[in-house]
Amino acid sequence: MEPVAGAVIRGFLDDLEGEVHFDAVADFAAPFPVEIIAAVLGVPEADRQQIRHWTDEILFRRPNDPSTTPAGLEALQARRRYFHALVADKRAHPGDDMIGSLIAAEVTADGATLRLTDVEIVEFATLLASAGSETVTKLLGNAFVLFHRNPGEWRKVVDDPGRIPNAVEEVLRYWAPSQYQGRYSLAWPRYSVDEAGCRRVTMSNVAGFANVPVGVGS
Ligand code: HEM
Repeated sequence: MEPVAGAVIRGFLDDLEGEVHFDAVADFAAPFPVEIIAAVLGVPEADRQQIRHWTDEILFRRPNDPSTTPAGLEALQARRRYFHALVADKRAHPGDDMIGSLIAAEVTADGATLRLTDVEIVEFATLLASAGSETVTKLLGNAFVLFHRNPGEWRKVVDDPGRIPNAVEEVLRYWAPSQYQGRYSLAWPRYSVDEAGCRRVTMSNVAGFANVPVGVGS
């Protein structure tokens, strides 16, 4: 996957070479992740950005309204129809991409050897395409803003690129890109009082909220 990712990212950066003004999200952070994942899945090049447009529409929420919009529901159907047609096409013309591998895969369960159904392959492909692309876009968008606001931290990364992995981890921690997975804990919260006399509540089974402190003072 790394060679595909490197080639795609270099392609986008080459297009921006020499540009004085560009939109770091629209011209880079938004379009490149889906190009990589869709390429690995085996989506034809001409259709890859459309996957992102459908996903954006599906994830769009109006203020104070957690429900999917009518346009989002239409996009959901359109994306599902697209992947069903793609899987049917790949069953007819097997390729060496990920969808081809999922079609060829044999799964052993209870002594029987099974093949994945179209629905299973479509659901996995759409999960991968959406889970992996908009999270990366948001991580980068957050990073651009944070480093712009903290030029001293940016300087440290530029001066020592060996810090890049830690910088990514820190942006993930500080401004988590994925904050709307609702989770509830099956374990009882633990209550305690710290040295400063603050009452604290510790929830152990929370996911998707990396920048919310584990112990929340009350
Ligand atoms: C900054 C980047 C990313 C962040 C912050 C992120 C975050 C998350 C979170 C919070 C979940 C939910 C975990 C849960 O259910 O408890 C998740 C699930 C998932 N992510 Fe990511 N992710 C990122 C990148 C990616 C990439 C690049 C891919 C694939 C190419 C990917 C594929 C998936 C898949 C397939 C799931 C569902 C796993 C499952 O339910 O079994 N993610 N991710």
